Amino acid sequence: MYRPPAKIKWKAKPGEWPTREQASASRLFSPVSLGPVTLATRTWVPAMVPWRATEDGFVTDDNVAWYARFAEGRPGAIVLEATGIRDIPSGPLLRIGHERFVPGLRRLVDAVREASGGETKLFIQIIDFLGIRRRPEPQKFLERHLTITERHRAALALPGQAPDAAVRAALLALDAEGLAEVLAPRELEALRMGARERVTDMHLPHVRELPQVLPPLFADAARRARDAGFDGIELHYAHAYTMASFLSALNDRDDGYGGSREGRVRLPLEVYAAVRQAVGADYAVGCRFLADECIAGGSSVADACFYGVEFARAGMDFLSVSRGGKFEDAKQPDLGWSAYPYTGPSGYECMPHHVSDERGPFGRNFEATAAIRTAVQDAGLATPVVVAGGVHGFEQAEALLADGRADVVGFARTSLADPDWFVKVRSGHGRAVNVCSYSNYCEALDEKHKEVTCSLWDRIDLATPGLRMSADGKRRLVPPRWSAPTAEAAAVPADAATATP
Ligand SMILES: Cc1cc2nc3c(=O)[nH]c(=O)nc-3n(C[C@H](O)[C@H](O)[C@H](O)COP(=O)(O)O)c2cc1C
Repeated sequence: MYRPPAKIKWKAKPGEWPTREQASASRLFSPVSLGPVTLATRTWVPAMVPWRATEDGFVTDDNVAWYARFAEGRPGAIVLEATGIRDIPSGPLLRIGHERFVPGLRRLVDAVREASGGETKLFIQIIDFLGIRRRPEPQKFLERHLTITERHRAALALPGQAPDAAVRAALLALDAEGLAEVLAPRELEALRMGARERVTDMHLPHVRELPQVLPPLFADAARRARDAGFDGIELHYAHAYTMASFLSALNDRDDGYGGSREGRVRLPLEVYAAVRQAVGADYAVGCRFLADECIAGGSSVADACFYGVEFARAGMDFLSVSRGGKFEDAKQPDLGWSAYPYTGPSGYECMPHHVSDERGPFGRNFEATAAIRTAVQDAGLATPVVVAGGVHGFEQAEALLADGRADVVGFARTSLADPDWFVKVRSGHGRAVNVCSYSNYCEALDEKHKEVTCSLWDRIDLATPGLRMSADGKRRLVPPRWSAPTAEAAAVPADAATATP
């Protein structure tokens, strides 16, 4: 994982906690409407993959226990982890590419409803991603995977009729520097990082056809999500995946779906239109997209303001804003592993660690998110904007709302550290919150595709009978229950009947 060179250590300081009365009068714990859905509070658990699905993409009991545990804290909304829209093997990530996934997803909806007493709304983040290979053994790559071309023969000064085996033998004899001279940039990337498809690979028919293929795939997935009982859809237009790559300034497709901002936003708008048609006008649909890609040549805040206005004008019910998380600057993975888009500087911007620079890890995306919200409002639209990135204190969250920088506040790692953050703060027990240390222990587990847990709770009370444990047998999979000192003190105030965006 990348760390800024300044290596300044920061500590999360949540500030003052409100009394129950103060919380009840706060903006944070007031309702908000996202189109047809009203959240009881402006608190939001952004999507986080916990690595608990089966190898073939089904919901497990561990998934159900995980989301039910978050729902016990009663955030306004939870966004279910990135869930694949295609019916293709994708490892232990949830999928929604076929009807057979619907019953499992419905179990999650029911569990969240029950655990939150019907209060927490559940959205699902739906995603498409392109092919990526693991970093290969160099010998295997040069002997088997690399397609030998005339270019290699010429670069190695071999005769045109030299057999492939001779070319491979010559390549195998080269050191890293020699290979860097002979291999084309994408071949070198395939060797060093693992081959990765891009939306600009127009020579690949399945990539060229993405604008025709994706709208119906997203629409079918959205219809299944509605059938499963989710309260809404979050289209995953952020980070390193297909839709974000269409929005990227690096997208120079020449088929009308790249180049200018208008071209780059075209497919995301067409996907939204197809989804809207599939789920109807009375269903919440929004997207998560990037305020800034934070990579050389990538989209900037100005691009994001343009996209935000386009999405709002098209009728999206919310805009959730993230930052960075790209493959372009990811670190070289270990042999046999795939590149992980949160290991470079842009990954740092997405999930900043407590070792940081002068700006610190708390709120690196606040100003950019505020700029998007302002652009949307200046266009005469009132689409609610969700902010995230380093939020852990009540006063910090309240200020974001009071200053008009956001309408809903996302707490990702904060809720992983303590899913009861919301119920504790709301009931005047803020001092009982386990504040996230921003060590990124969770993110390191995510990188290794291990069940995500938090170091603040995963070794506590391991002797408890019936505890669900990680595959390595060392960690509990959900945090211990929290009981308020008295039932009366923990009672969450009744919500106001009306909501405003
Ligand atoms: C373990 C883990 C998994 C994540 N998975 C997703 C995901 O599936 N989709 C997504 O948009 N963001 C994902 N994120 C990013 C978070 O939603 C959030 O944007 C980021 O952690 C910054 O917010 P925070 O400072 O409140 O944690 C993940 C983060 C973590 C720590």
